Amino acid sequence: MTDPGDIDAAWLPSAAFRAVGSRRVLVRAGEGPQAGTVHSELAEACARFGGRVVPDGADADLVLAPADVDGLGDEGFTFERRGGTTTVTASGQRGLLYGLFHVVRLGEDAFTGERAREVHRPALATRMLDHWDNVAVHPVMGQVERGYAGGSLFWADGRARGDLDRVRAYGRLLAACGINAVAVNNVNVHATEAHLLTDRIGEVAAIADVLRPYGIRTHLSVTFAAPVVLGGLPTADPLDEAVRTWWAEATRRVYEAIGDFGGYVVKADSEGQPGPFAYGRSHADGANLLAAALEPYGGTVHWRAFVYDHRQDWRDRSTDRARAAYDHFTPLDGRFAPNAVLQVKHGPMDFQVREPVSPLIGAMPRTRLAVEVQATQEYTGQQRHVCWLGPMWSEALRFRPDGSVSAGRLADGLVAVSNAGDDPFWTGHPLAQANLYTFGRLAWDPAADPRAVLDEWIALTHPGAPERLVDGLHAVLDGSWSTYEKYTAPLGVGFMVQPGHHYGPSVDGYEYSPWGTYHFADRDGVGVDRSAATGTGYAAQYAKPWSEVYESPETCPDELLLFFHHVSYGHVLHSGKTVIQHIYDTHFEGVEEAEEARRVWEGLADLVEPARHARVAERFEEQVRCAREWRDQVNSYFLRKSGVPDGRGRTVY
Ligand code: GCU
Repeated sequence: MTDPGDIDAAWLPSAAFRAVGSRRVLVRAGEGPQAGTVHSELAEACARFGGRVVPDGADADLVLAPADVDGLGDEGFTFERRGGTTTVTASGQRGLLYGLFHVVRLGEDAFTGERAREVHRPALATRMLDHWDNVAVHPVMGQVERGYAGGSLFWADGRARGDLDRVRAYGRLLAACGINAVAVNNVNVHATEAHLLTDRIGEVAAIADVLRPYGIRTHLSVTFAAPVVLGGLPTADPLDEAVRTWWAEATRRVYEAIGDFGGYVVKADSEGQPGPFAYGRSHADGANLLAAALEPYGGTVHWRAFVYDHRQDWRDRSTDRARAAYDHFTPLDGRFAPNAVLQVKHGPMDFQVREPVSPLIGAMPRTRLAVEVQATQEYTGQQRHVCWLGPMWSEALRFRPDGSVSAGRLADGLVAVSNAGDDPFWTGHPLAQANLYTFGRLAWDPAADPRAVLDEWIALTHPGAPERLVDGLHAVLDGSWSTYEKYTAPLGVGFMVQPGHHYGPSVDGYEYSPWGTYHFADRDGVGVDRSAATGTGYAAQYAKPWSEVYESPETCPDELLLFFHHVSYGHVLHSGKTVIQHIYDTHFEGVEEAEEARRVWEGLADLVEPARHARVAERFEEQVRCAREWRDQVNSYFLRKSGVPDGRGRTVY
């Protein structure tokens, strides 16, 4: 495939195919949509770089062939190099496609020396992106809710795009990092989007047709009230016979249009979305209703666990939003259908820069579970700030509820809210492409070292990059999450953002709001007491050892201290600093680090394509401005509350 016009090649520039494209390649991929992709990718690469697709029986440098290997599944593949031939085998077409991209990633290394047979298979079956895209532009949220990369890739002018070239290029990028599922519309399903399920399913089918050759199944967010709003029924009660029949029939028609449709995503009884509570039914009843409709066709319902009271009275200290998902869902363990997947945000609140891993994960052993992260940077700089989330996700994925080291797995699937749109660089901030790539690769292998994944991304995106560029990109990206954390809300307390759009600081922006997101700063101290002994009891939702670790400020990790405890400004952290001095120091450091990253980026101007360099440079100006604003507002706020001056006498306002 050629670099499609003005669409940024991201991690698949044609030069990334040089090694493969200059070889003699023998493909026995068979027939089918993904096999077709393998054939055309190789033909294209060979045409460009002087290689040749050779017939069966001929000598070849690279052989891709089917094989019956036990336990490989449809997506796994083997890779080996012996006697000058590199061989990829797989039981399914998808496996061959992933094997091909593996060879692309390795570049010349795939064709040097000898390599014993390696078996590669994804650790997680579902590796999914949820697009919070609206078909119609929403008056408040715009087209893409929490989208920072332009308009929707799928929808324009109130309908599915007629020209799906960008979607095709997107599917290709996703396949190259291992993503195999995409939900094409917002979890908040508004009036227009509700119709995608029924009379507008043809538009979804057109998108699914384009994604299929890349091994991606298409999913749809649906409203729980569909039988009422679309079917004209008087109720959406999950136990009502007519409702069950309606869903069965609607789903049958979906599969008529899209034979390999992935299933539904549902946000129910959450932030105003309809759900089973209205009928006195449980969320298991709700999820199982849709699961039953999908079951005959092999579809899955992803049922979101983001259920909490968003109309809380801030005076009410007995309600803790962090507790909500666990309290709602653990009593239902074992009651969800086998094709219902509970989709749980990685933290108990809402994608803050620092949260503990949700205690719900690990507390429902008899329920299929997917962990949801946010690639779109709602709370991490909105793709104006550089914030590579690989280390954050990796930390969450390595967490084990019982405190063991990486035994067993955390979940059956990983889902990210997508950060891509119709922006020329896909993600607004060109360096945010690294988040999308890293997500896919961590979903394939949650134990992977995120830094090694970043190396891959750098090498693919900038083929032949000189060391200075590689080092520069690492310098800018490696610590960017930590930098962002330093100049924003301290020690896990979260929020402190401008209400509504969530960009930039407002320390008390959510302090007296109904959203359940408070820091409780007063003249003496700050933080939320979530201990079992004196607080909301949230810490006790964890199994041991975490319940004990988090229960006491003495053992609670510094970075989560204010999430779990209300402490005085003079409280001494494990680092040896007081809380107040930590706040001052990190806020000064965070700005200095952002300024330093900007300086490093400036020095890479001769090595990066001008438009890309300019886009990032422009974003750095905004990041530094905003980081200073964060620093000064947070530091001034805490100086005024506490009366404790900065020990180093720097300017605090
Ligand atoms: C956040 C976000 C909303 C989104 C919600 C969700 O609260 O601000 O825009 O709808 O998460 O995950 O459903």
